[in-house]
Amino acid sequence: MTQVAKHSEVADVPQQTGAPEAERAAVTTRVIAICNQKGGVGKTTATINLGATLATYGRRLLVVDSDPQKSASSGWARQAIKRGGDLPFDYTYETNPAKLAKLRGLGCQEVIIDTPGSLENEELQHYIIKELADELIVPMEAAYLSFDPTEAFLKKYILGTGKPYRLLMSRTHPSKPGRVDETKKWAAKRGFHYFETHIRTYDAHESAPAAGLVCTQYTRSNSGAYFANAKNDFQGVALEYLAGATSKAGA
Ligand SMILES: Nc1ncnc2c1ncn2[C@@H]1O[C@H](COP(=O)(O)OP(=O)(O)O)[C@@H](O)[C@H]1O
Ligand SMILES: [Mg+2]
Repeated sequence: MTQVAKHSEVADVPQQTGAPEAERAAVTTRVIAICNQKGGVGKTTATINLGATLATYGRRLLVVDSDPQKSASSGWARQAIKRGGDLPFDYTYETNPAKLAKLRGLGCQEVIIDTPGSLENEELQHYIIKELADELIVPMEAAYLSFDPTEAFLKKYILGTGKPYRLLMSRTHPSKPGRVDETKKWAAKRGFHYFETHIRTYDAHESAPAAGLVCTQYTRSNSGAYFANAKNDFQGVALEYLAGATSKAGA
């Protein structure tokens, strides 16, 4: 895989190997922000596993952690390195808007940005969602109590921008699909866009960060009996994403 920015700050990126100059200019970069002001809804899990799955489809991508807690860039990656490997895509940590803006010039097809959960850095969240991103993915719990906060978040940050976005129902109960159906009905009634695929709750995902694993690396022995389901959910999301991305960008 082309090394764009492993372990580096964005300022270093252009000095790294990346794509050749002419190739970089020809690539249309889609900046995808994974966002929801609520913490614990699966943003970081979605960022890492969508990144890993898209990488298996040969996408040249960069994952950016803009969360000061650095759970994606440092926490997860540190464990992957300890295991003797690394995350199977390029990644960096960056919160400086001026540097984030330079990410488009790197020749990546996707730049996937994990955003902080809280509103403590509202200015950065505004910038990433309203200005920088081309597309938003909004993980949410498929639960009644998430409906109002999610609607408020969409109205405050996303709907007015006219940017494409999709809700991603996450941490859903594998044996209670009715909750997902209710959430889809709630979304459809309001005209909100969503991924048909939802991300079910599996131990595999919960233990993956500490093990430094991403879903494409799950096996029965490292991730338990439901490893294939856990992997397939992200494959479904990646395929839905690619269907939209390739028809829009011809990429
Ligand atoms: N589909 C899932 N199945 C099991 N655990 C999950 C799943 N998605 C997230 N988690 C766990 O829930 C917690 C919050 O997820 P995280 O991705 O960190 O959310 P956020 O980035 O929105 O705060 C973490 O402990 C994570 O491992
Ligand atoms: Mg997070």
